[in-house]
Amino acid sequence: MIRINENYQKLKASYLFADIARRVNAYAAAHPDRPVIRLGIGDVTEPLPRACIEALHAATDEMGQRATFRGYGPEQGYAFLREAIAQHDYAARGCEVAPDEIFVSDGAKCDCANIQEIFAQDARLAIPDPVYPVYLDTNVMAGRTGANVDGRYAGITYLDSTPANGYVPAVPPGPADLIYLCFPNNPTGAVATRAQLAAWVAYARENRAILLYDSAYEAYIRDPQIPHSIYEIPGAREVAIEFRSFSKTAGFTGLRCAYTVVPKTLQASDAAGQGQSVHALWNRRHTTKFNGVAYPIQRAAGAVYTAAGQEQTRALTDFYLGNAKLIREAVQRLGFTCVGGDNAPYIWVNTGRDSWEFFDLLLSRAQVVCTPGAGFGRCGEGHVRISAFNSRENVAAALERIAAALR
Ligand SMILES: Cc1ncc(COP(=O)(O)O)c(C=O)c1O
Repeated sequence: MIRINENYQKLKASYLFADIARRVNAYAAAHPDRPVIRLGIGDVTEPLPRACIEALHAATDEMGQRATFRGYGPEQGYAFLREAIAQHDYAARGCEVAPDEIFVSDGAKCDCANIQEIFAQDARLAIPDPVYPVYLDTNVMAGRTGANVDGRYAGITYLDSTPANGYVPAVPPGPADLIYLCFPNNPTGAVATRAQLAAWVAYARENRAILLYDSAYEAYIRDPQIPHSIYEIPGAREVAIEFRSFSKTAGFTGLRCAYTVVPKTLQASDAAGQGQSVHALWNRRHTTKFNGVAYPIQRAAGAVYTAAGQEQTRALTDFYLGNAKLIREAVQRLGFTCVGGDNAPYIWVNTGRDSWEFFDLLLSRAQVVCTPGAGFGRCGEGHVRISAFNSRENVAAALERIAAALR
């Protein structure tokens, strides 16, 4: 009989969201008179900006006319979008990124999942804990780890994010080849300073390593001292790939559009020790396995960079940050310490007790759903993630209930 990829057997079953759903459904069934408010989700709730919707309609109409119909587009994305990204997201911040270094895709999830396949099987990995699970699981599937023992895979250097380091891990003492970093962070909401990122760039240059920098939440940064891009750090063009997404910037989780930057100056070695262009490898992978994002969706993404689009997307992220501020302040008033919520849509609460126990407490006493930190890694134990993605009304009601329940 045909055999499976045994590496899939090593995956720690992803019980987190299934477990949450099971507990919430059981509670709701037993207490139909007590509606539950969900602050556990990582999905946006507000409608798309007007400018994006108008661009989507106009581009859809173009597809219905022979003169303006478009079939397959360039796999890497249309020039109008790659040029707008290069101009607004990079040149405007003093970063050198050319349009042809930008690969438009249908999600940062796929890109940060797929990137590992262009690197060696024996690449040494460093991955944060707690973490967005995609980085780890895709490397497990690819066979780069040993078995999972006590919640940790053999062969991975875990970068612990704890109260002691302000949830921003320092460079490891030993060598690593591929390092995943995510700022503003999911799940902690922590951001890295320029000095902290500069230390990572210096480490990567010294170890001839590559940083895989996920900045899917950069649009939430409000502190002018915090870098939005790894390319704001001198020397990063030789050591870093950056992932970005329109999902949380402009509410595109249901439309699907993202991009990855691979500088042409980035090299990795072949078996003979010769430097090879990582851009050429990614271009090969992308054009072989991907056929481009739908034209109307790319037009909708392009509209984010118009004057109206900039104003409307800013209003959208400001709205979620308004929720985040209310959550952060309420949690602090209750005597908890927390990070995030000021430059990110997530608040990471140090509960000082078992994270599932705290989850159950909020559910049963306040009918509010959060995400237990243990689901994101060993260092997530003792914490919960509260998401700012909800209506103001729901956030206000949830906070009142939490305060009453914990007072
Ligand atoms: C850190 C991080 N990266 C990437 C993604 C996925 O983004 P996309 O919707 O573009 O696939 C998410 C979504 O939750 C995320 O939290």
